[in-house]
Amino acid sequence: MGHIPRAPGQRRRRGVAPAAALAAERVCVQVRPVRHADLPEVIALDATVTGLHKADYWQRIYRRYGVAGQGLRHFLVAESGGRVLGFVIGEVRDWEFGSPPCGWVFAIDVDPRARLEGIGTALLAAMRERFEKAGMRVLRTMLARDNPLILSFFRSQGMTAGHLIPLEMVLGGAP
Ligand SMILES: CC(C)(COP(=O)(O)OP(=O)(O)OC[C@H]1O[C@@H](n2cnc3c(N)ncnc32)[C@H](O)[C@@H]1OP(=O)(O)O)[C@@H](O)C(=O)NCCC(=O)NCCS
Repeated sequence: MGHIPRAPGQRRRRGVAPAAALAAERVCVQVRPVRHADLPEVIALDATVTGLHKADYWQRIYRRYGVAGQGLRHFLVAESGGRVLGFVIGEVRDWEFGSPPCGWVFAIDVDPRARLEGIGTALLAAMRERFEKAGMRVLRTMLARDNPLILSFFRSQGMTAGHLIPLEMVLGGAP
């Protein structure tokens, strides 16, 4: 996988004042479980990344992962100065594909204006901590081949190719 060019000025802002747009109100970033009041910001953030405004989908995700997790499903947000700057969603899955229980992360997004400041890393670390507390020894995820950004991010976090291979087929046609 080649290097992903960063846009000018899009270098990690370690030790330097963060972008003016967000710096004034940012005190520190806190990662915490999602609240219902966060949903409009989560939906808007998802829409900036995917181009789709999926309000019903997010209500369902909130019900399943936000309030009924029982310690095994987690929907976390990164908040700073009262603003949601990112989210991560994951869960413990038991004996899927013949594997012992492990942690899965299936969504992570950071506000494009707040990237390269360690927020994605903080979100994944918080999820990892919860999985470790639940006794998990493996963290898994899947990503699209044509998304080198998310691949670079997960590689930077120490994730490598696993032993499962995703397969798929188009339905509705001849086998
Ligand atoms: C991937 C994403 C979550 C990273 O969030 P972030 O807060 O910018 O990540 P961090 O600042 O913690 O970066 C950690 C490391 O990831 C890698 N990385 C992040 N952005 C990168 C980029 N644009 N180019 C290359 N590497 C990058 C780097 O190794 C970085 O460490 P470094 O800055 O010390 O080099 C964010 O870019 C995002 O939301 N992208 C869209 C996500 C998406 O496509 N979601 C849909 C599928 S779930």
